[in-house]
Amino acid sequence: MAEVRVIRASWAGAASSVDDLPQTVPEVAVCGRSNVGKSSLINAVCQRKDLARTSATPGRTQCIHVFDLALSTGKQVRLVDLPGFGHAEASKAVRRQFAPMISDWLFGRPLLRAVLLLQDLRREGDSDAQAFADELRARGVGVFVVATKADKLAKTQRFAAVQRLQREFKLPRPPVVTSSESGEGMAELVRLIAHWSV
Ligand code: GTP
Ligand code: MG
Repeated sequence: MAEVRVIRASWAGAASSVDDLPQTVPEVAVCGRSNVGKSSLINAVCQRKDLARTSATPGRTQCIHVFDLALSTGKQVRLVDLPGFGHAEASKAVRRQFAPMISDWLFGRPLLRAVLLLQDLRREGDSDAQAFADELRARGVGVFVVATKADKLAKTQRFAAVQRLQREFKLPRPPVVTSSESGEGMAELVRLIAHWSV
């Protein structure tokens, strides 16, 4: 099978509540702790530098951004860049504001097909993220854990880190390992996302 590519990507709009953008095509949400690399990953998947805004300051993405992808198969799918959860730097008030925004979207969009839950490959024992994955599964949302920032880990440490994530998140298979910096794992992610395209 020929490799699936993203041939066009565009910003479909920003939303601060679940009803702000009409649903037209299947959606795949990108979730995870603040600063884990959600916006960077969307850019890397789309092979665009500044489609989604990124920043070294956690909490950069403060509303929901939706991106329309046209694939080389002629099909379409949407990627949803959600605000990050749980960064210590954000005030309690900001966190309280994000939490319902995120969960309304995850549980209130009939066309949402799956969630990519991003996790820094270097991070151990993230019970918040694991509890989040459990809640999604319990509510019938398909969760795919994606390890990010693989370029920051020495090759010798990788295998153990991947195994640990698989165990901690109770995954049937090892997580997809990615680096938005090097492009590692992006072809695999596009293939995964293409699965829900129409
Ligand atoms: P919020 O919107 O704040 O929740 O963050 P985010 O999850 O969207 O993270 P973002 O993509 O803005 O990236 C955060 C920081 O991590 C930026 O400084 C990125 O350049 C860096 N970063 C993201 N992905 C990678 C990666 O694969 N490798 C490396 N080395 N750095 C990365
Ligand atoms: Mg972001």
